[in-house]
Amino acid sequence: MAKNKPEGYLSAKESRRISRENRKITNEFEKKRKRKNVPESEYTTKMKDENNVLEIDGLHTYFFTDAGTVKSVNGVSFEVPAGKTVGVVGESGCGKSVTSLSIMQLVQRPQGQIVEGEIRLNMGDGKAYDIAQTPVEKMQDIRGGKVSMIFQEPMTALNPVFRIGEQIDEVIALHNPEMSKEDVKKRTIEMIELVGIANSEGVYRMYPHELSGGMRQRIVIAIGLACNPKLIIADEPTTALDVTIQAQILDLLRDLKDKINSSIMLITHDLGVIAEMADYVVIMYAGRIVEKGTAAEIFKNPCHPYTIGLMESKPMVGKKVDRLYSIPGKVPNPVDMPNYCFFKDRCEKCVEGCDGAYPDMIKLSDTHYVSCYRHYDKGVKEEN
Ligand SMILES: Nc1ncnc2c1ncn2[C@@H]1O[C@H](COP(=O)(O)OP(=O)(O)OP(=O)(O)O)[C@@H](O)[C@H]1O
Ligand SMILES: [Mg+2]
Repeated sequence: MAKNKPEGYLSAKESRRISRENRKITNEFEKKRKRKNVPESEYTTKMKDENNVLEIDGLHTYFFTDAGTVKSVNGVSFEVPAGKTVGVVGESGCGKSVTSLSIMQLVQRPQGQIVEGEIRLNMGDGKAYDIAQTPVEKMQDIRGGKVSMIFQEPMTALNPVFRIGEQIDEVIALHNPEMSKEDVKKRTIEMIELVGIANSEGVYRMYPHELSGGMRQRIVIAIGLACNPKLIIADEPTTALDVTIQAQILDLLRDLKDKINSSIMLITHDLGVIAEMADYVVIMYAGRIVEKGTAAEIFKNPCHPYTIGLMESKPMVGKKVDRLYSIPGKVPNPVDMPNYCFFKDRCEKCVEGCDGAYPDMIKLSDTHYVSCYRHYDKGVKEEN
């Protein structure tokens, strides 16, 4: 019987043991996170570079599930410079959303926990918070105020039983307790107009189901930007929309970003969107960053075989092919990651050395980094 066990099979006994162990670990984390009156000094830190709004440094976010520990984010480091757009690309399940949820401390707890790393958020005036250590009560001010998030599906992001106006009012009132009711409403109407909706007074009184998908996403953006956040995290903001509306929403995001002097972390599958919007690009694969650089570096000189595969798999105007390229194989099991390069089993460009440990980050230029043995002789090794 034991010999015929399928891969990943867990006996009930084993599963109980894992869940007991998990509970022990997550209880420890929860105890720490739920403390009240934590002194600010415990979670204040210093930005490496004052010109960045966000610096993620060696972030590890794990899910302690009954089937084992899922290392969804497994050592991710990148920065978002002030006023810039950073695109995060990678295939489904590589940890893009979990990275962004970690920044907002919205990872599903108690099983999901930030176990290691720093998330430095620039609070201005030379002050910075380490989100990984910030207690839950403090996060209320940061979410929606300093950092806001635009989700993928506008229908689920809005509450179907409240009017549009009330939902925007609530956010503004929460972060500006000194504002009068009239001022809050005035600001809401301003926001509805700002996102390009003409009938602002009418829409103020409507319910989400009365709006089209594009309008709903504009409302979600209005809620996100109502408090002039320093960082906007947009998790696939246009995936649910058709192509023309997609272009309008992206233009709107870009304009508003400059208007309120903010920065964007843009998560998407769509390299076309990245090419249009991003100043910097981060390529993720199986919970880690395999390559990062400026948009020009990534598009003109992709170095990691995964990035090269991505570039080849996108359709090009004027280039006739019978069949679009697709990267062979599949992502390794997140519960049981290999101890060598995670892409090796799918890679068609392996060289000598690829059997070794997970490759270090190689610095190819001041902004361009790649984690691949093929480039060991072309740049300076940095710690991964
Ligand atoms: N609540 C959870 N419990 C257990 N595992 C989870 C949970 N949420 C996410 N994961 C796992 O974390 C990994 C990363 O998920 P994530 O949602 O970040 O992917 P993604 O890159 O955003 O994908 P997509 O492009 O499909 O949105 C996946 O393997 C997923 O199964
Ligand atoms: Mg996602």
